[in-house]
Amino acid sequence: MELTGKRIALGVTGGIAAYKAAELVRLLIKQGAAVQVAMTEAATRFVTPVTFQALSGKPVFTDQWDARVANNMAHIDLTRAADVLLIAPASADFIAKLANGLANDLLSTLALARDCPLLVAPAMNRQMWENAATQRNIATLRGDGITLLGPASGEQACGETGIGRMLEAEEIVSELIAHFQPKLLAGKKVLLTAGPTFEAIDPVRGITNLSSGKMGFAVARAAQEAGAVVTLVCGPVSQPTPHGVTRFNVTSALEMHAEVMRRAAGQDIFIGVAAVADYRPRAVAENKIKKDGRAASPIELVQNPDILADVAALPAPPFCVGFAAESRNLAEYAQGKRAAKKLPLIVGNLIQDGFGGDENTLVLFDASGETALPPGQKIDLARALVQQIALRLAGR
Ligand code: C5P
Repeated sequence: MELTGKRIALGVTGGIAAYKAAELVRLLIKQGAAVQVAMTEAATRFVTPVTFQALSGKPVFTDQWDARVANNMAHIDLTRAADVLLIAPASADFIAKLANGLANDLLSTLALARDCPLLVAPAMNRQMWENAATQRNIATLRGDGITLLGPASGEQACGETGIGRMLEAEEIVSELIAHFQPKLLAGKKVLLTAGPTFEAIDPVRGITNLSSGKMGFAVARAAQEAGAVVTLVCGPVSQPTPHGVTRFNVTSALEMHAEVMRRAAGQDIFIGVAAVADYRPRAVAENKIKKDGRAASPIELVQNPDILADVAALPAPPFCVGFAAESRNLAEYAQGKRAAKKLPLIVGNLIQDGFGGDENTLVLFDASGETALPPGQKIDLARALVQQIALRLAGR
């Protein structure tokens, strides 16, 4: 539960994406948030207040004259206790109202009378979005310090394809979770590797390992939440790409090396979380290799380049962080790798503590010694690691 104790005022305006707001409430509640819904009159034409009341467990407000609020000041009370006001979906009309400071219904009055941050997820037809008036209003909202979530582009309810779709409920939840994280890496560029590599032997076989990619993806997500521009180069994994992260898929260590070296210039931080194969077959057999009766293996192995060491050896290298997954002698091996690859920081973990699962135990090794992070979920460890990296980057 990533939103425990957070109080979210959710404004729903009139658009077909209002149906996605119902799913959004369910996901927010699942993450531990308390959700207070307010709807415009037009929104109630798409989804009834009963749906939102059932999902949020709280009465829904639509009218600024609602006598259910003791002091009759629903327009102030409903956001007074909120950590954030989220408007999803926000119609073109409602965005125009926000841009002009109108307060002629409950939700627009709440937006004007609030003292919490306002997050807006637009949803409208492509032409309404591209219209000069809407674009002018969006620029005004940005100038007023209002955060825009999306819109995305894709298929629209009207049958057209283009920009204007509301973000999916899961994406809005990710944005909200990120909103509450400290922006320790604001404006920094972070490049990461994650997952295993696959070194082909012949058309059907290869050398790989059991890395799930979970730790690397968690670090990518934590860096993105901290305000960084994140690029993730990953081997074959079945993890969903964290919202807002740019992902490049590769298969072999050589491909991962090429992709990373192409993107390393201009990065502030490089984090090698991938479990890169140390060796690959000298050549990939064109046809499936047959048993030929010889006892010796027909596969000759050659060493792969060390991606992390090569990035650390660049003329103006980013701040380089390595991972060392060991089955024993963690401190000795991790510090050895840190020295060999010339890294300021390496993160050690024992394979038996974290491989494949959602939890892990991490120990940080740098020139001054070791710091253990409290064991926990990979995402919490990733956030703690981002904090440690930000501290070291600032002191560089
Ligand atoms: O030497 P070892 O593979 O254990 O080092 C682990 C660290 O080095 C990890 O951060 C891993 O991503 C990185 N590495 C790499 N390229 C390799 C081997 C390891 O970037 N060929």
